[in-house]
Amino acid sequence: MLHFVLNDREVKTAANPATTLLDFIRYDANLRGTKIGCREGDCGACTVLLGSVENGEIQYENCTSCLTPLANAHGRHVVTVEGLNMSELNRAQEAMVSHSGTQCGFCTPGFVVSLCGYALNPDTSLSRTAKDAVDGNICRCTGYKSIERAADQLQEELDNLGEAKTVDKLIDKRFIPAYFRDIPQLLGQIEKDSFKHRGKQPVGGGTDLYVQKHDEMPFMEVAFPFKHQNGTRIWKEGDRCHMAPLCTASDLMKAPFLNESIPNWYEYMKLVSSNPIRNTGTVAGNLVNASPIGDLTAMLLALNAEITLKDPADQERTIPLRSFYLDYKKLSKTPEELISRTSFDIPTAGRFNFEKVCKRKYLDIASVNAAALLEEKNGVIIKASFSVGGVSPIPLYLHKTSEYVKGRELTERTILEAAEVLQSEISPISDARGSADYKRLLAGQLFKAHFLNLFPSQIKMSELV
Ligand SMILES: Cc1cc2nc3c(=O)[nH]c(=O)nc-3n(C[C@H](O)[C@H](O)[C@H](O)COP(=O)(O)OP(=O)(O)OC[C@H]3O[C@@H](n4cnc5c(N)ncnc54)[C@H](O)[C@@H]3O)c2cc1C
Ligand code: FES
Ligand code: FES
Repeated sequence: MLHFVLNDREVKTAANPATTLLDFIRYDANLRGTKIGCREGDCGACTVLLGSVENGEIQYENCTSCLTPLANAHGRHVVTVEGLNMSELNRAQEAMVSHSGTQCGFCTPGFVVSLCGYALNPDTSLSRTAKDAVDGNICRCTGYKSIERAADQLQEELDNLGEAKTVDKLIDKRFIPAYFRDIPQLLGQIEKDSFKHRGKQPVGGGTDLYVQKHDEMPFMEVAFPFKHQNGTRIWKEGDRCHMAPLCTASDLMKAPFLNESIPNWYEYMKLVSSNPIRNTGTVAGNLVNASPIGDLTAMLLALNAEITLKDPADQERTIPLRSFYLDYKKLSKTPEELISRTSFDIPTAGRFNFEKVCKRKYLDIASVNAAALLEEKNGVIIKASFSVGGVSPIPLYLHKTSEYVKGRELTERTILEAAEVLQSEISPISDARGSADYKRLLAGQLFKAHFLNLFPSQIKMSELV
């Protein structure tokens, strides 16, 4: 039995846990404010909030309900636009009205939900501003400027609340309805272990599966193997970062120790999908999906990550991520094995860089992406790991190129020679993301960009062209 809180009321349901949260909300709960747009996670019309108790406090995240299996609502507070309505407009609605942020209105519930989610969340390590919080919401009418102004107004009002944005303050100032006060108590009554479900198809956040198997997933016998594990999803042990199977891209993005150790980490992670997708899509899902252009996969390959695979008898084995990919979507694992942990050494002396070229900068998948980890001492490259995506049937660790660079002087000549080696390792094909020639060119340019970004005082761009 699934048990959660939907707006201000408890829900217990025997509905198929694989059905989408969107369909449950619209057709079982008859709440039609949550809209159906693309059903592919792109438009944000179906955005809802998922609130979970973490470290004694409720944290709210926006998510695309069209890709979220109902099971992932278990034990949580699901907030739709109806759950944010009051007798008067709430502050986000008022800001949208004041700045003419709505025209046909189809996208508006999604924007309002994302903005209220931002107001509710005191943690700005994911969305630094209200504008960041709507990066997964698309509007076809307004041209965005009016929505940006509405977000700026909300930001100003929130800033005026001062440091402690308590739920009481948010209620008093009409950001959220009064029933939010009762939610911690309601969630506390939910028996987390009441949901046990085992099927054949493992699901993490569902952001790949529900796009790829759009018609089948809601009816499948799915397994949520680790979904209701308690505890930390990402942590540091010495200089090593570990991720549990539930670790999402957002967890990776906000990890303080990664932001401290890797310059631009937040900016790199911002290039990965959008807030609602990062909030639900897991790192393990990205690795197992084995897309040749998976961004987290490219980063973790260059970071020399290892994955631990667990079989149904709880036997574990750990392998380097770079040996996980055998051929197109063919993995070095049995169907029953699940990723139970992903780990990598946090770069302390090395420098990390990530590059991604898409048709648009944000909320797009890459034509080609690339990552590098480099360490230099006295003008010599002592460590090098490169990965590149979109130029091979698998997410590619560049073995030969990495080996070629190691032990050589950090000069433009080394880079140009290594770029030739790189070309011998890749085999791009022409597709909707670009021609094979274009991808070759991109792979070479991104390779040079790593050095230009990481060693700006030693490497001259004019010598690389
Ligand atoms: C709108 C949109 C934008 C996106 N943008 C990007 C982007 O910019 N960059 C990018 O890289 N990706 C992007 N993605 C893809 C996707 O969000 C990521 O790949 C995400 O990390 C997948 O994780 P998930 O938990 O949702 O996977 P799921 O869909 O739940 O699962 C994917 C696969 O992993 C398996 N799996 C899940 N967990 C485990 C486990 N613990 N052990 C073994 N197998 C497991 C599942 O069985 C399935 O085969 C985007 C997707 C959408 C819908
Ligand atoms: S319907 Fe478009 S993101 Fe869900
Ligand atoms: S107002 Fe029409 S889609 Fe945004």
